[in-house]
Amino acid sequence: MQFKTIIEPFRIKMVEPLRMTSARERVEILKKAHYNLFLIRARDILIDLLTDSGTGAMSARQWAKMIEGDESYAGCESYYELEEVVKDLTGMKHVFPTHQGRASERILFQILGGEGIIIPNNTHFDTTRANIEFTKAEALDLVIEEGKKPQSDHPFKGNMDLDKLEKLFKENEGKNNIPLCLLTITNNSGGGQPVSLENIKATSTLCKEYNIPFFLDACRFAENAYFIKLREKGQGNRSVKEICQEVFSFADGFTFSGKKDAIVNIGGLLVVNDDELAGKIQNIEILTEGYPTYGGLAGRDLAAMAQGLREVVEEDYLEYRIKSTAYLGKKLIEIGVPLLTPIGGHAVYIDAKSYLPHIPPEQFPAQALACELYLVGGIRSVEIGSLMFGKTENGKFIASPMELLRLAIPRRVYTQSHIDFVIEVFQRVHTQKDKIRGVKIVEEPPFLRHFSAKLALI
Ligand code: F0G
Repeated sequence: MQFKTIIEPFRIKMVEPLRMTSARERVEILKKAHYNLFLIRARDILIDLLTDSGTGAMSARQWAKMIEGDESYAGCESYYELEEVVKDLTGMKHVFPTHQGRASERILFQILGGEGIIIPNNTHFDTTRANIEFTKAEALDLVIEEGKKPQSDHPFKGNMDLDKLEKLFKENEGKNNIPLCLLTITNNSGGGQPVSLENIKATSTLCKEYNIPFFLDACRFAENAYFIKLREKGQGNRSVKEICQEVFSFADGFTFSGKKDAIVNIGGLLVVNDDELAGKIQNIEILTEGYPTYGGLAGRDLAAMAQGLREVVEEDYLEYRIKSTAYLGKKLIEIGVPLLTPIGGHAVYIDAKSYLPHIPPEQFPAQALACELYLVGGIRSVEIGSLMFGKTENGKFIASPMELLRLAIPRRVYTQSHIDFVIEVFQRVHTQKDKIRGVKIVEEPPFLRHFSAKLALI
């Protein structure tokens, strides 16, 4: 029987109190944090939608695994448990744990990057791009055109543009300068949009044709597989796990942040099939992360990650997860808030440029909205616009293509009433949106300025 209410497929047996602040306190807190929400202490936040990374709630079974975790330096049982789960899910050969996603990226591109190298992707996440560029290689984004239009309703806006990819491969034939092609599932920087099974398969086939290894950035592989089940023809009757297995069968390796779809607070993976590459990874891993059977983590972290990977493909969980995010999105649309659509898996993205047309990009409309949400309801969100990606060159302001505000939903953390509260805060913000003021930068670091810049109201 179908019910309208979205029910969390879990009950809660451990709670963490949330602290309500008064509106007057929040004015002072925000001023002291220089209108940068990264600089607010978490205890002063009511609902934290800054990120879905490492903020999930582990299950009772995962906590039990934490106690069972084997802390041996070499050959620990928890590693073998994790290896077995990963091999079952992906069919791949060499499994390296790392402390988080960007550690996997750093190791991979230390080996394969370098000057003159090009790494294509649908859209590189910022740490992926930074790790590639750090080696002086080029990070190229080749997502389909639909993926760049905030209001396009294409069901798989994360798809790779295969024509552009083939053109790139042709232009560079024989140069040996494309050591791998990446595909990010779901496409976080493009709004948490999924990639279809058909596109994954076609990208893999094209890579094989040109003899280029095909890798996934698999942070949100389970959410991506659930979208495939919901939206792709002929996939509705398959289990999510089966879809995941097929997705991974097309790849030669993947990077992974366990902080997303392994529902742990820390941990990552670098997994490859190629024996020679695995040998090189092992050498760097020992040098920088740790012995390969723990990779910079405690044995208990490996055990919790293994269990999280079992739980994340459970369909009751995924149904609740995707429905809850979509519910928030739909209600915001009803209020009149323009969103990037279709609504993604892990977050709702607000198009702040069209929502606050009175605030120009150089006054950071998404950041202004983030401040207002904090002032009205103690909600923390994150700006993905000109504060994060814009720059000033020769005194001229260069805006980011979009001014987005991301409300990322931690896994299994907030209930439907928390989500309803967020919606109510938006109703209030909406009535006074024309009075929201822009912000300006008063002090900024040389790079990744959004994390620590000091701002002021205009
Ligand atoms: N790739 C993607 C697609 C990501 O979303 C992230 C992290 C990473 C790689 C890096 O993983 O944080 O474990 O080192 N995304 C987080 C976010 C930080 O808020 O979207 P990490």
